[in-house]
Parts: sequence; C-alpha cells; structure tokens
Amino acid sequence: MSDTVKVGIVGLGRISTLHLEAYKKEKNIQAELVAICDKNKKRVQQVAKEFQVENTYTDYDEFLTNEEMEAVEILTPHQLHTEQTIKAAEAGKHISLQKVPCLTLSDMDRMIEATESNRVKFRIYENFRFYPPYQFAMDLINKGVIGKTERVDYRMWGGLSALSEWKVSLSTWKWRFTEEGNYNSPTLFDDGYHKHSIISQFLGEEIDSVLAWQGDFKIQGVVKHDTPSVVVYSCKNKSHYGTWNVSTHKFLPMKSDYYACDEYIEIVGEKGIIFVPGCTGSFFENCGDAAPGQAGVHWVDEQGEWHSDTSMETNWNSSFINCSKEFINGINENREIEINPEDARRILQIGLAVIRSVRNDFQEVKIDDVLDKP
Ligand SMILES: NC(=O)c1ccc[n+]([C@@H]2O[C@H](COP(=O)([O-])OP(=O)(O)OC[C@H]3O[C@@H](n4cnc5c(N)ncnc54)[C@H](O)[C@@H]3O)[C@@H](O)[C@H]2O)c1
Repeated sequence: MSDTVKVGIVGLGRISTLHLEAYKKEKNIQAELVAICDKNKKRVQQVAKEFQVENTYTDYDEFLTNEEMEAVEILTPHQLHTEQTIKAAEAGKHISLQKVPCLTLSDMDRMIEATESNRVKFRIYENFRFYPPYQFAMDLINKGVIGKTERVDYRMWGGLSALSEWKVSLSTWKWRFTEEGNYNSPTLFDDGYHKHSIISQFLGEEIDSVLAWQGDFKIQGVVKHDTPSVVVYSCKNKSHYGTWNVSTHKFLPMKSDYYACDEYIEIVGEKGIIFVPGCTGSFFENCGDAAPGQAGVHWVDEQGEWHSDTSMETNWNSSFINCSKEFINGINENREIEINPEDARRILQIGLAVIRSVRNDFQEVKIDDVLDKP
C-alpha cells in the first residue's frame, strides 16, 4: 500500500462537510478522496464538483466494487451502520465508522467479528477525544498535575438556533426522533456517545453504573425533546463519579459556527481542578473577564496557583481534522486506531444503560446488566 491512502465516503449529509474538509490539500493528510456515495444524486454531484471526485455512486454495493478505494468512511444514519460495515469488511476495505456505531451490542459484535475475520482496520469516529483542549487536559491528568480524577462535571447548553449560518435540515433531525433509528434520543443516545466517552476518559476508570433523570422540554411547545437531562456516572468506588447536565432553551443566544450548543467541563482531582470552557460552539470566545474563562484550558494546581493556556486550536472542526488523520496514520503505520472497537462497545453499553435508566423511572442501571438493548 502506498503512503497516500485512497478513501471513499458514504453519506454526504450534514456532518460530511467537516469530514470532507480533512481531505483538502492544505490539511496535509496522507490520503486522497477517490470515491463518494449517497442515495441523494444531487448531493453527490455537488460534492463531486466541489472536491473534484471522479468516482460517484448512489448505490452502496456498487461503490464497494471500486478497487482503487482502500478505506471507507461511513457517515450514514446509525441504523445502516452494521450492514454497511459488514459489507465493507467483506470487500476488504478499512473502516472508519461515525458514532453511534449501532443500536445494539449484538450488532456491535457482528461488526467486530466481520472486521476481524476479514483482517481490516476498524475504528469508531469519536472526534471529541481529538479536540485539542480535551487532549491538553488529558495530558495534564497523565502528568499527575491534579492527581487522581475524582469528579467530572460536563455541562451543556443548547439554544434552538445558533448565531451562525450552519443549517441543520429537517431530514437530518428526522431519523434521530425515531425509536428504530436512535431510540428517539437525539441528545442522550446520539450526542451522548461523545459525553459518555469523554467522561470515561477523564475519570480514567471504568464506569460501573448510570442514573439518568429527564425533565420536560418541547420544541415549539409540541415536539418532545430529551432535555433537560442529568446523567450521573458512577465508578465502583462511589466517590469517583461524573455528571452530564444538559438543557435546551428557547431564547439562549448560542454563538456557534456549528450546532446551537456549547459545553463546559470541570475535572476535579485529588489535588487540583481543570476547567475547559467551550467545544462545539464559540460561546466563550473573547468573553474576557465576563464569564468563567476563555476557550482553552485553565487549572489550579496543588499549590493553589492558577494557570491558563488558550494558545491551542479551539475551533471544534479541528477535532474532525485530527480524528480523520488518526485513521489515515493508523492505516499507514499498521497499528490500532482510536477509538478501538472494544472501547467503542463499552461506550455504547453506557449509552444503552442511560436510555434504560430514563425508561425505568430514573433508576440506577449497572452497565454490565445491559446485554443487548436498553
Ligand atoms: N461526530 C460528530 O460530532 C457527529 C455529528 C453529527 C453526526 N454524526 C454521525 O454521523 C452520522 C450521519 O449524521 P448526519 O447528521 O450527517 O445525518 P444526515 O441525515 O444529515 O446524513 C446522512 C446521509 O446519508 C445518506 N444516506 C442515507 N441512506 C443511504 C444509503 N442507503 N446509501 C447511501 N447514502 C445514504 C443520506 O442521503 C444523507 O445524505 C450519524 O451516525 C451521526 O451520529 C456525528
């Protein structure tokens, strides 16, 4: 295999715009986009023209017959992931699959089996782990700056529209509000995958149980949304835990180039605290002294001294560029690619446990008790 990995993308919907960006020359990725596929012909033609891609398909099986293509990025709705992954593995393509990997643990196991038996690389695309401020915070934890992590609080605000031009079409939302496509949980199951992943990573220890509460918010007073919600994640040692507190507000002026939301994390260790304002949005950009800190990383150490670093890239799109590069570099270096299928499976299991907890009147659910579905 040459150093330039030949990639194909299936699913050219909302999130594909950030994946396509990684293949631009100036991003210096060792890959070439050689084929694209979407059932929407107009969209295929539009992307082909913008990115000068010659091989275009509206049929997935035909797309997989492209022999030049060595690797596939799957960016379709979750419900299609399992069959598309198994077919790509059987066609001998390396696979990067957008989160959420699938809807059940048995489907996850089928994908793992197919990719292992066909000896292709398989990773789940969880870009929040590649967001530079989160990587910086993880480095501080690994260097022992705050000691053992004891508590992670992840807060998230949503508005109904962002102060930006990013449009999210009705068709992109529609499948997220179905039981068969997403357990009707756009926040807790879909976006939650990132949150379960990050909280697990910062805790640095296995999450043993979850407890999820849900309030009552309706979009335009009509469509039931899965916010406000609070999830409590507990480790076996119950003094090590995390929370995710997420709410949506009608008039909140969310500044964001992407979705109308933003995040804020506090990581409390035994001898220090790390604060990470911002991620998806740009709510904290140029906030000066007016809010809890500029986008970047701030921390207080064992001596009680304060530090700040806001020099790293804080635009959310950089998490996509870094995450795509990890896939290509992993193929070229013939190594495991983050995040690996076993970690991805555990995060899925946490997500399923969260849905079970909401549906069981907010009772605590042991992660290991979830064997397939919520
Ligand atoms: N990492 C992130 O931050 C992030 C953000 C958004 C979405 N995602 C994930 O990306 C995936 C796609 O989400 P989206 O928001 O772009 O959805 P979307 O609905 O906007 O796009 C899906 C695309 O897949 C196409 N498609 C559907 N069936 C197809 C088929 N059989 N063959 C070929 N194309 C088909 C649709 O025409 C559409 O263009 C989901 O799994 C989602 O969870 C991840």
